[in-house]
Amino acid sequence: MPTWDEKQYLKFADERTRPARELLGRVPLAAPRYVVDLGCGPGNSTALLAERWPEARITGVDSSAEMLARARLDLPGLEWVQADLAQWQPGTAPDLIFANAVMQWLPDHPALLPRLFDLLAPGGVLAVQVPDNFDEPSHVWMRSLPGSWSETLASVRQGPRVLRAGHYYDLLAPLASTVDIWGTRYEHVMTDAAAIVEWVKGTGLRPYLEALPAAQRDSYQQAYLAAIEQAYPPRADGRRLFSFPRLFFVAQR
Ligand SMILES: C[S@@+](CC[C@H](N)C(=O)[O-])C[C@H]1O[C@@H](n2cnc3c(N)ncnc32)[C@H](O)[C@@H]1O
Repeated sequence: MPTWDEKQYLKFADERTRPARELLGRVPLAAPRYVVDLGCGPGNSTALLAERWPEARITGVDSSAEMLARARLDLPGLEWVQADLAQWQPGTAPDLIFANAVMQWLPDHPALLPRLFDLLAPGGVLAVQVPDNFDEPSHVWMRSLPGSWSETLASVRQGPRVLRAGHYYDLLAPLASTVDIWGTRYEHVMTDAAAIVEWVKGTGLRPYLEALPAAQRDSYQQAYLAAIEQAYPPRADGRRLFSFPRLFFVAQR
């Protein structure tokens, strides 16, 4: 499991929190009593939940001590739990399980999603957003850059974990009263290619950089930047569009 750096992650806090807002906008609950934010990170998504339902009991769950420390600092009134979601069990059945930008780090979605759905209280909602960027240049290049690092990175490379929309629908529709499912492709305006690299250094690129010794890490990062320069060409004003598809679903029990 990679370590997390909340400062690096929060460099693009507005862009990263936007999908959480859009996911939350589709949650059909007026007054949930118990809300859980899975993979809460530094608490940016949890803050939205607390803003919408100030009366609810809200728990943020994350495996990273660094991320939870930041969340506790910013939102001391909420509950924070350190746990691996692969094993996590709530003490009380939640009315909402919210999971923004975390499921891509967990394996075996065909088992995981129905298990999480089963934990909900009657009428409860599972709301999930996952980056759908496995085949985007940002992710293809981090896996396949040719160079001396190639063998070292073999242990980090993984096949796709995020399923197609239809597969999530087939998993949840037999269990749910309603399933709302959609995709959005964001076009983030970035100052330059280096900013795109900074973005992925906060998430997907972390395991690759951590696996490499310092000397190789620098040359890998330079080669990655060169690939990103090509893959996301400058627009007329010199900025780059970082094209980023995401998949959303909201299933109600
Ligand atoms: C990309 S951040 C998402 C943060 C926040 N939810 C948001 O909307 O921006 C992903 C978080 O998932 C956490 N995470 C990854 N794998 C996990 C696991 N197996 N169990 C618990 N948390 C995990 C990481 O520690 C990280 O804080």
